[in-house]
Amino acid sequence: MQRVIDSISEQLAQSGDQVRRLFHGRGGLFEGLEWLVIDWLPPVAVIRVYASEVPQPLDPVVEHLMAQSQVGGVVLQLRGRGREAQSEVLAGDVPEKLVVEELGLRYQVRPLQNQNSGLFLDMRPGRAWVRDNASGARVLNLFAYTCAFSVAAMAGGAQSVVNLDMSSGALSVGRRNHQLNGIAGDAITYMALDLLRSWSRVRRQGPYDLILIDPPSFQPGSFVAERDYRKVLRRLDELTLSGSRVLACHNDPGHSEMFLREMMASEAPGFEFQQRLPLAEGFPERNPEQGLKALLYKRVDA
Ligand SMILES: C[S@@+](CC[C@H](N)C(=O)[O-])C[C@H]1O[C@@H](n2cnc3c(N)ncnc32)[C@H](O)[C@@H]1O
Repeated sequence: MQRVIDSISEQLAQSGDQVRRLFHGRGGLFEGLEWLVIDWLPPVAVIRVYASEVPQPLDPVVEHLMAQSQVGGVVLQLRGRGREAQSEVLAGDVPEKLVVEELGLRYQVRPLQNQNSGLFLDMRPGRAWVRDNASGARVLNLFAYTCAFSVAAMAGGAQSVVNLDMSSGALSVGRRNHQLNGIAGDAITYMALDLLRSWSRVRRQGPYDLILIDPPSFQPGSFVAERDYRKVLRRLDELTLSGSRVLACHNDPGHSEMFLREMMASEAPGFEFQQRLPLAEGFPERNPEQGLKALLYKRVDA
């Protein structure tokens, strides 16, 4: 556990007051600790265990965390395959909701929420890119979840953002996230819809200069990447103009970058690959192909 403690100290020192991954065992660089991830949602540390039982005692890690002046509480989340995620407070005080900061923007998170807490920390480079490149753009944010991309786009001067997600609860947090950053007005639209059944409504609000696509890998009944991702890419032509950009994301460690690139080449051949965004700091990967894929494209046909 000394490797975990060292990583925590190093990452906490670099975090300032911002959200950060403190330990990323799933990246495969810490042999025997692939089951362990620790996130920092100041002032709470969330220990995520990807196993049905905790494989090694976590007491030294919890003690180390609680000895840091900035840590107010520690949560344990068990997320073994085939079981519902379960969270419990291991130490200190843990509020139900927190407002955290990243790159000067504020987001609401729930450290005790089963599964995802409200902000995907590995998408930080994506949000940074959107903020730097959304000026004046009409943005379509597909699979918007809590609208973090929308907040980043509006902070970067986007003209408008259409946020679409089938979860109205996630979009409510999205509204709150805009309020937390003083962003309001008609320029932001929220559509609580199943994307695969709503193309005409999405098209009616277009065309778009920038489309963000960040679906789940495998959400049975809603979206299964192997089957459904190409259905989204097939629609890009009718939603964009020449020069429009697309940020297509995929987070299945079992698929390489080629999974997305081949689909883009066959379903949206008018788009040219520009770059893959870097992996977030704090997310080192033994095999970068297993990390988050965030691929930027530009429409180059007439
Ligand atoms: C990986 S999260 C998106 C994260 C988000 N882009 C962000 O940066 O925080 C996936 C989202 O897709 C939504 N979703 C899944 N299937 C959908 C569908 N068929 N139509 C619309 N939304 C869907 C889920 O509700 C979930 O919020």
